[in-house]
Amino acid sequence: MSDPLAPPPLLADEPNRAAFRDYTQPGIDRVRDFYRNNHTHQTVDFVLGKKDKWLQFRQREMTPWEGLDYLNTLVDESDPDINLPQISHLLQTAEAIRADGHPDWFVLTGFVHDLGKVLCLFGEPQWAVVGDTFPVGCRHSDRIVYPEFFAANPDSQDHRYNSELGIYHPNCGLDQVHMSWGHDEYLYHLLKDYVPEPAQYMIRYHSFYAWHREGQYRHLTDARDEANLSWVQKFNPYDLYSKNPNPPVLAELKPYYEDLLAKYLPATLKL
Ligand SMILES: [Fe+2]
Ligand SMILES: [Fe+2]
Repeated sequence: MSDPLAPPPLLADEPNRAAFRDYTQPGIDRVRDFYRNNHTHQTVDFVLGKKDKWLQFRQREMTPWEGLDYLNTLVDESDPDINLPQISHLLQTAEAIRADGHPDWFVLTGFVHDLGKVLCLFGEPQWAVVGDTFPVGCRHSDRIVYPEFFAANPDSQDHRYNSELGIYHPNCGLDQVHMSWGHDEYLYHLLKDYVPEPAQYMIRYHSFYAWHREGQYRHLTDARDEANLSWVQKFNPYDLYSKNPNPPVLAELKPYYEDLLAKYLPATLKL
């Protein structure tokens, strides 16, 4: 029997990638403005402050399903590809994973991977919650989307933070690296005790395109990161390309997903 946690092969048959993540399409100014704010303000001090504030999980308690319902009032400004309600995106992602016969924890990961966006509903601006993520505390890769906006980030002028390694040791492992603050890191800390390691990586690094797509920051990764990279890459097409204008019907699928949430997650989450 194959090991359900073994790294998967890369997809051979991916859909038309050029149709997604097109940052040149008309009406994309909101995305530029989003990244101008994100890249200007995501500094080491900013990230440490947000970790201090949000990783205490003192906002409110909800069942996982209530959390997803709550999230449903949000539309993501950073995303050039969807104007769908969040629950539709999550359901499409999860259903595409399920249709390909993956283990149920992988389906669960698809279903909850953006739940951390509830931070927006707790009053955080979108630029501090969504969008691509990147390490802070070291030089910004020029393969990050809209790299020109980092010129306005104070860390770019700070000698502690603007060398290739910055505050890190070579191959220290991503767990030691502070990522720009957002829903990925928040949800990772919320769920890390309940899901297997590949799912933790998918949740924590799904927006770290400079790593999982562009191959950057390999001087910071360790063997555990390298072993999990293929899982993060395996997850990505489901997140991107299952954004389909004819979504599955939630009411029909709700019993399956309620059981799946109950299998892995506690009855109540402290957000
Ligand atoms: Fe996300
Ligand atoms: Fe997503």
